[in-house]
Amino acid sequence: MSILDDIRKPVDREMDEFESYFSRTIKSNIPLLKIILNYILRRKGKQMRPLLVFLTAKLHGTISESSYVAATCIELLHTASLVHDDVVDDAHERRGAFSVNALWNSKIAVLVGDYMLSKGLLICVEKVRYDMLEITSEAVKSMVEGELLQLQKSRKLNIKEEDYYKIIISKTAAMIAACTATGARSVTEDPDTIQLMKDFGENIGIAFQIRDDILDYEANGFTGKTIGNDIKERKITLPLINSLELASLLQKRHIISIVRSRKKTKSEINEVIEFVRTSGGLEYAELKMNQFRDKALAILDSYPESDVKNSLKMFVHYTTSRNK
Ligand code: IPE
Ligand code: IPE
Ligand code: MG
Ligand code: MG
Repeated sequence: MSILDDIRKPVDREMDEFESYFSRTIKSNIPLLKIILNYILRRKGKQMRPLLVFLTAKLHGTISESSYVAATCIELLHTASLVHDDVVDDAHERRGAFSVNALWNSKIAVLVGDYMLSKGLLICVEKVRYDMLEITSEAVKSMVEGELLQLQKSRKLNIKEEDYYKIIISKTAAMIAACTATGARSVTEDPDTIQLMKDFGENIGIAFQIRDDILDYEANGFTGKTIGNDIKERKITLPLINSLELASLLQKRHIISIVRSRKKTKSEINEVIEFVRTSGGLEYAELKMNQFRDKALAILDSYPESDVKNSLKMFVHYTTSRNK
């Protein structure tokens, strides 16, 4: 049993129900879409976002149909964003298998991503939940802004720690904040509660992306993604930002010249990984990640003890200790 199975316990039934809801929603009659959507459905991810929607909903009331609407919408938007992200990042592995762009091609991946994106938003329309539509569309907008900001910054290679936070808040934390906001919204109309849960999700989301960026330097064999892909794509994340700040001018120039080059050899990528591993950048990123983890935990502290609260605590800890 994985930790996630333990975390799921208070919403086990809902997560099972969600899975069939999700695959029913995603269906299409177009033959090529059918094949690709089946391929995607067979390789499901950790499903942390729907889990977070249900746990947040249950923390504040009784899970309702709109909790399912939110969970399905967000998992669809998230999956769409991964299909697109792998085109943008030229990544060939996802969830331990070929990415859609690698197995078919980028044109198809763009269109399949668009299909899932529109399907995700349409569920909110069909169920007449414009409040959910508003929260989730905002998150998609923010995600795209974050990805564009990252592309622009990585081209200049002058990214500062503050820029990094700005990027990850937009590209990742906004969608995770949408999970906790919609989860709360599905059971309450109280604006203070919804805002508090949005802040809770944002802190989890920042910690989540820092962990993801650390994992790009850790060859653990579980992520199902290619290690070093961020460096290959000239993506400068927190571990490298910090390592560069501490480096000598000469060293800095050398590392930046590797990161800047379009064609990097395996051994050049390994050199950058080794540089970050030995200069304390990973430890620094971990320290920062844990600060956001603790902010999220502090928000939970204001709630009375319960199974659901305990699961959410474990969820936050899992976010920052996960190996995949
Ligand atoms: C990956 O998210 C994309 C990021 C925002 C870093 P997940 O790690 O949750 O992906 P899956 O859904 O489990 O594959
Ligand atoms: C997160 O960034 C991507 C999205 C928010 C869509 P990454 O590019 O680091 O995600 P992975 O590592 O490919 O999953
Ligand atoms: Mg990527
Ligand atoms: Mg990554």
